[in-house]
Amino acid sequence: MPTADDDATSLTRLSWNAATRAHNAHKQDQASFLRNGGTTLFAEEVALAGDVVGQSLLHVCCNSGQDSLSWARAGAVVTGIDFSDEAIAFARALSAGSGIAATFEQSEAVAWLESSTVTYDVVCATYGVLGWFKDLPRLLRGMARATRPGGRLVLVEFHPLVWTFSAGLDTPNDPYFAPGQAFHEPVGDYVGAAGGALSPSGHVVVDAPFHNPHDAVSWQHTVADILQATIDAGFVLDVVREVPWANGCKVIPELEAVDGNRFVMPAERPSLPLMLALSAHKPL
Ligand SMILES: C[S@@+](CC[C@H](N)C(=O)[O-])C[C@H]1O[C@@H](n2cnc3c(N)ncnc32)[C@H](O)[C@@H]1O
Repeated sequence: MPTADDDATSLTRLSWNAATRAHNAHKQDQASFLRNGGTTLFAEEVALAGDVVGQSLLHVCCNSGQDSLSWARAGAVVTGIDFSDEAIAFARALSAGSGIAATFEQSEAVAWLESSTVTYDVVCATYGVLGWFKDLPRLLRGMARATRPGGRLVLVEFHPLVWTFSAGLDTPNDPYFAPGQAFHEPVGDYVGAAGGALSPSGHVVVDAPFHNPHDAVSWQHTVADILQATIDAGFVLDVVREVPWANGCKVIPELEAVDGNRFVMPAERPSLPLMLALSAHKPL
């Protein structure tokens, strides 16, 4: 079913495989956490998805499945897809260990979306997904294809402006507007840097710093790119939100941790949008 990888995809998968191992090394017994009712979801995606009980939910780029299994525990019938074999193997083991059922498939996302014949009540992608796709309109068209008429799309992302400041507020680096430009950088240990905000099952400090030997390739998509691709794919926008906090991830080094596993700008700095969230529906 999936098409052959291009070079960027192969490289990025290696980077994610290495990072996924490092990220999970920071997390204590995740199976018990989920089995005992824990969730890794944040309020934003829960509110945008609405009632998921009995709904089929496709989680695009599900990584190790923690959020997918949290959706399943909330009552959804979940399919998670991700191209990282390391992540999908972990997700399947976590499903077995937690006793929470979900289907996990290892595939490049666009190839999967374009070849699947199943449609879902909810299609969601959250926290660091859109930038891995050079052709964002094609990804959104695939997501629309996988959404049943009347079904809904939920996207919760770090705001594209944050990548301009990812090296520091006083050292802006990547441009906000960079159509078609490929950025090469290894996937880092953002779970370690979050100091517990992404480890609700308990945080393990790993002494040796993580060095990812593999570059990942990503692309910048502006807010307008994301909204336009969503509309052009045939979705009708229902909710669009920008918020001055980042869930779980210290996406700018100066951000400060606050309650709820969020990061915010220091009080003396002007506010910036740190996340972009939207929900949309596919007309009947
Ligand atoms: C930041 S993680 C997303 C986190 C996720 N929302 C979760 O619940 O943990 C990004 C994921 O995208 C996956 N990915 C990147 N490019 C992909 C592609 N072309 N096809 C499928 N998965 C991809 C990576 O393997 C990684 O697991």
